[in-house]
Amino acid sequence: MDQPLVSIVMGSANDWEIMQQAARALQDFGIAYDARVISAHRSPDLLFDYIKEVSARGAQCFIAGAGGAAHLAGVIAGKTTLPVLGVPIPSKYLKGMDSLLSIVQMPKGIPVATFAIGEAGAANAGLFAVAMLALHDAQLAQKLAEYRKKQAETIAATTLPVLT
Ligand code: RP5
Repeated sequence: MDQPLVSIVMGSANDWEIMQQAARALQDFGIAYDARVISAHRSPDLLFDYIKEVSARGAQCFIAGAGGAAHLAGVIAGKTTLPVLGVPIPSKYLKGMDSLLSIVQMPKGIPVATFAIGEAGAANAGLFAVAMLALHDAQLAQKLAEYRKKQAETIAATTLPVLT
């Protein structure tokens, strides 16, 4: 694969079921990405090394997924000026509300763009990364426009079942 333009990081291998939606979106648009399990609290040194390494390799943004007291996205944002997109992972007891609030409530000065809890959030984070990259890539912008057009056509062609 080419040098990754987008770096997907998640706190646990258990997050992959959700985070693969972000990877899928990037893959569908032919964007080179890297996907890694690195925890902000279980392996902070590894996280700091990784941020440095992928930034030097030319990554354009990070997508970070974590659950519970989800500080992964905020910690990454504190170590890089690249855009960080945060995905709240559904948690066992609070169903991801804890993850959402942890990621979205960043104090002023270090922003994290926060997406919906779960699969939709992960897929949209991937699509948002595509939109950012498309700002400087006309071909990619065209692909994204076609993807949106297809969605509109699907809605327009949708009919409801007749009442019985
Ligand atoms: C976070 O803690 C991870 O992002 C994960 O969502 C959550 C639970 O981790 P596991 O106990 O499932 O590995 O760090």
